[in-house]
Amino acid sequence: MKLITCCSFKGGAGKTTALMGLCSAFAANGKTVALFEADENRPLSTWMENSVEGGTWDERCTVFVADEMSLLEEAYEGAEARGFDYALADTHGGSSELNNTIIASSDFLLVPTMLTPLDIDEALSTYRYIIELLVAENLHAQTAILQQRVPVGRVTASQRAAAEVLSALPQFDAPMFERDAFAAMKTRGMLHLTLATMSSNPALRLMARNYETALAELGVLGAFVADKLGV
Ligand SMILES: Nc1ncnc2c1ncn2[C@@H]1O[C@H](COP(=O)(O)OP(=O)(O)OP(=O)(O)O)[C@@H](O)[C@H]1O
Ligand SMILES: [Mg+2]
Repeated sequence: MKLITCCSFKGGAGKTTALMGLCSAFAANGKTVALFEADENRPLSTWMENSVEGGTWDERCTVFVADEMSLLEEAYEGAEARGFDYALADTHGGSSELNNTIIASSDFLLVPTMLTPLDIDEALSTYRYIIELLVAENLHAQTAILQQRVPVGRVTASQRAAAEVLSALPQFDAPMFERDAFAAMKTRGMLHLTLATMSSNPALRLMARNYETALAELGVLGAFVADKLGV
């Protein structure tokens, strides 16, 4: 089981959304995914409830509440025993013992960030924090910055400058664009299953095309992560 974690000190950087997208991409590929809910606001549990209600939850995936150390340990052992292909951990903002444990146990650390000067500062701090922790513990993990909520059209000069600052760090070379399809996942459910229900409805054909594009983008992100992990 490979553990992939989304972290950022900054709230609202797009951690949970990136994780939900990655989960859909893996599940669409037939992989099993354990989701570790390390954010006490429980966005993943809510996601699962909404999805199950809408018939868009992929049974290959399970949410494990892991917002305390003992629960995290239980979740990790339980998921490993059940042989999940991937575990995806959603952290809360800031640093904590729980976050440190998750970071130290991760095979892949993804740092999502928007392209504002404040977000870039926070992403750099987060990245430095992760590297310092890994070095201190003599651990190795793959890392990548993920540009999040990038406008589909032209980016501004300031966003271009922000992207330039990030170019020195390992990063996924395509951004996660600002898309309704991504924002809607939390209520509509897993992207690949939402798309499947839309495709059978002619009235939703145009929307379905947007969802196809969004899912294809996530597929590339999933392939990038799998490739880095040697899966
Ligand atoms: N690529 C995207 N396109 C459109 N909306 C997005 C995208 N990514 C995130 N959002 C929206 O931005 C908001 C914040 O995203 P999200 O909850 O994923 O951030 P977070 O880092 O998990 O926040 P928190 O620190 O509160 O846990 C949400 O309303 C989400 O729907
Ligand atoms: Mg979140």
